[in-house]
Parts: sequence; structure tokens; C-alpha cells
Amino acid sequence: MINIAIDGPCGSGKSTVAKLLAKELNILYLDTGAMYRACGLKAKRMGIDCLDEKGVSSFIYNIDLKVKYENGTQHVYLDGEDVSLAIRENEVSMLASNISSLEIVRKKMVEMQRYVASMQDCVLDGRDICMYVLPNANYKFFMTASAEVRAKRRYEELISRGQTVDYNSLLVEINQRDYNDSHRECAPLAIAPDAEVIDTSNMSIQEVVAHIVNKVRKGEE
Ligand code: DC
Repeated sequence: MINIAIDGPCGSGKSTVAKLLAKELNILYLDTGAMYRACGLKAKRMGIDCLDEKGVSSFIYNIDLKVKYENGTQHVYLDGEDVSLAIRENEVSMLASNISSLEIVRKKMVEMQRYVASMQDCVLDGRDICMYVLPNANYKFFMTASAEVRAKRRYEELISRGQTVDYNSLLVEINQRDYNDSHRECAPLAIAPDAEVIDTSNMSIQEVVAHIVNKVRKGEE
């Protein structure tokens, strides 16, 4: 069984890399951030504050959340509705960051993620994969890049989707999310001692993918 774990802050390129890796190695890709985003969206739709543990506990145990692959593309379903686009809206990023700090949410999501990983060869990306979700993964990576490079990537991504954004506010938000994600009590974003750190500030996506594929094909752990 191949389990590849990739952690890193937002904008480090991890989901793009994970997606391409899955294609190249013909294994499943599970985007764990998308799961937290769907939880944030659900809270918003119910009018519940993402940091209100009591409110969140009213739906999290029975959340109807599914990640499916249709023609090689990941789709996230919430209550039967395809929310793949809705969860990418900028507002949902902060909701996801907030709701993911609640232990009840992480427990539920991690249970679902471990189940998926125990059934098939896969690559998971997120914040706590190497140390918490899959501590026994065969391959572990921590992808990063400077906050400025990450804000620029996010800016270009949102602009290309037709959204109106301001680079400086994105940079502030990225720093705030980094702080949130690495200072929460439960499974914070951190570099696993046995993970290889890849700084993507000056690397192309193809270079990163080739590096990981090479390692996996050689069977190096
Ligand atoms: O990777 P992303 O930006 O889609 O993730 C959205 C939020 O979800 C992020 O701010 C932190 C949280 N997250 C997490 O806590 N643990 C994960 N494994 C993945 C994401």
C-alpha cells in the first residue's frame, strides 16, 4: 500500500502537486482541506459561527459530506449538492481555518480520511497528515514557499476565475491563516521530523512532481 502525505501552508502548491502525482502514479487523491471547507460552508449555511463548538456539534457528527471522483475530477458533495465551486470562494477559506480548529471537527474528518487511506493507494494533502492523520505514511513531504509568493499564486488563481481580489488583503489573510493553522491547540501545522521539506518558491510544479515521482518509483522512503 502506498500512502503519500503532503503538508504545507495555503498556496504552497501542495494540492496542485498532489493532483498531478495521483494522475501520474494512478492512485487516489484526497484533498483534506476541501473537507474542512465543506464543514465551514455548512456552518455558514446554518447560520452557525465556525468557532461555536456547541453550534457546530449540532451537525458535525451527522454531516452528509462525500468526496467523489467523476472523470478524474474531484467533486465535493454536501447534503447531496455539488459544492466544489462554492467551497473555493475566498470567504470560505477563513471559515475553514476557524472550524478546523475545533477538536470535534478534526476528529470526525480524520476518521473519514484514515478510512479512505486504509482502503487504497493514495496521496493526501493538508496540515496534519504527516504527523497525525497518517503517521505511518511511506512518503512524507512538507511543501512551503514565502508568504509573498503564495499570495501572488492565490491572487492569480482567483483572478483567473473571474473574482475581484486585492493582493495586499490576500497577503494579510495568508499570514493570518498561517498563524491560525500553526497555533491551534489540536494538530497544528508543523513540519514532521521525518518529512522532506520542499521549498517551492523557485521551483515549478513539474519539478516538484518529478522529484516526488522519482522517489516513489525508486522505492526510497
Ligand atoms: O488547504 P486549504 O486551504 O483548502 O485548507 C482550508 C483550511 O482547512 C486551512 O486553513 C486549514 C484547514 N485544514 C486543516 O486544518 N487540516 C487539514 N488537513 C487540511 C486543511
